[in-house]
Amino acid sequence: METVSILLYIFLFLSTLLSYPFIRRKQKGGLVKRSAAYKLPPGSMGWPCIGETLQLYSQDPNIFFATKQNRYGDIFKTHVLGCPCVMLTSPEAARFVLVTHGHLFKPTYPRSKEKLIGSSALFFHQGNYHTCLRKLILSSLSPDSIRKLIPDIEAIAMSALESWSRTQVTNTFDETKKFSFNVGILSIFGHLDISYREKLEENYSIVDKGYNSFPTIIPGTAYQKALVARKRLNRILSEIICERKETRLVEKNLLGHLLNLKGERGQTLTEDQIVDNIIGVLFAAQDTTASALTWILKYLYDNPRVLEAVKAEQNAIYEANDGGKMPLTWAQTRNMPLTYRVVLETLRMASIISFTFREATVDVEYNGYLIPKGWKVMPLFRNIHHNPEFFPDPQSFDPSRFEVAPKPHTFMPFGKGVHACPGNELAKIQMLILIHHLVTKFRWEVVGSQSGIQYGPFPVPRQGLPTRFQKLSSTTALQDVTLN
Ligand code: HEM
Repeated sequence: METVSILLYIFLFLSTLLSYPFIRRKQKGGLVKRSAAYKLPPGSMGWPCIGETLQLYSQDPNIFFATKQNRYGDIFKTHVLGCPCVMLTSPEAARFVLVTHGHLFKPTYPRSKEKLIGSSALFFHQGNYHTCLRKLILSSLSPDSIRKLIPDIEAIAMSALESWSRTQVTNTFDETKKFSFNVGILSIFGHLDISYREKLEENYSIVDKGYNSFPTIIPGTAYQKALVARKRLNRILSEIICERKETRLVEKNLLGHLLNLKGERGQTLTEDQIVDNIIGVLFAAQDTTASALTWILKYLYDNPRVLEAVKAEQNAIYEANDGGKMPLTWAQTRNMPLTYRVVLETLRMASIISFTFREATVDVEYNGYLIPKGWKVMPLFRNIHHNPEFFPDPQSFDPSRFEVAPKPHTFMPFGKGVHACPGNELAKIQMLILIHHLVTKFRWEVVGSQSGIQYGPFPVPRQGLPTRFQKLSSTTALQDVTLN
């Protein structure tokens, strides 16, 4: 693993260690009283204070999870990042925590991260506030809303690809981050003045860098700079909100919905709540989608036969659209079966959100085991996606496996239950659109032979997948079509 990642994990570890005495005090009493009826899951809690944090972060975290699963089975306890945890690797257990008994578990994030995103953001909450906001975000990102965005997403994709092809070597992850950021901005604001967009991008990227750094207010550190940039984002977003309020347009984008929200007693959202949710959506949208896109490019490059088949599918659409002169239609984006399977298989293989965190709000019994109140609970999506019982030969990239629907509850790249991803349709459509323009008009070649994964915190091919893009002349593109 890269030195930077190791440092990052040590920072994360130290930061959570500082809160350890507090966590410990809260849990002591409960554990003694309840031991009679149920036993804790198998597993080891490691060293005093540090638990098994070093074991987790001194290797590929997935090896840690897989080794534990082999040794203890589908449910095991451990102690990482200052918290006692129960990890779960079966679809039934994930469903128990996220869906059927979701009310017994609450979302949990370190305070330092909540401060950067904004504590009113959707994913920190549950109950009425969460339900109400979620409904609103789901409707702004529903298929009906995003179908109108296709021409704009196409324009953003083409402009990105053109600029990559003018660069010697592109860091694919960094560039796809810009792409997904711009699509996020589009879905939140609709059309937004370029000067606002640039200011948002500049400050958001400082917040993004601080998010995974050691939380301290010492001047000059990444975290402190992020806090300052977060304040600037507040001011920029306030200006935009003020302008939008003045125009009094009933806009159908996310900001329009947030501004027009009225509760049962006519109450509206405060400006802070609106700002936190804008930053929250940008945060949830950017690295996830960029990481998935980066993996798609890698898997297609590594699997030439799949790439040829995707090209054939996309070239047929390109031809039907008069050599790309007509825009993609909604129906076309819904009818790219092979390309869609590539997206699904990438989401399975890469399992970008490898796991999620919840916290038990009461003592919970699962399959005869006790999950004590206050313990963290982690459904491990990646272990489920890589279980050969559900996905034979799980390490091989094989989009055809999705010709048959996966067994129920075994495939959850976008999570499950009340916190499942409301942006999944937008994520998928932007990936399909980018692939369409990429394979019909460009070629790409991965530079260097480094394999491996870096975690930042999402898994990404090493060094962000350095890639050389080349725009095809219309004749070459045509030859490609004929050859296919
Ligand atoms: C490939 C891209 C994406 C992946 C793999 C992904 C995955 C996920 C997952 C697994 C969750 C649930 C986390 C949990 O249960 O703790 C989630 C939640 C969320 N996602 Fe995504 N996401 C992606 C793209 C997007 C996009 C494009 C948006 C918005 C434009 C978005 C907005 C959100 C929001 C707001 C939540 C929180 C929902 C809630 O707490 O109710 N995501 N995402």
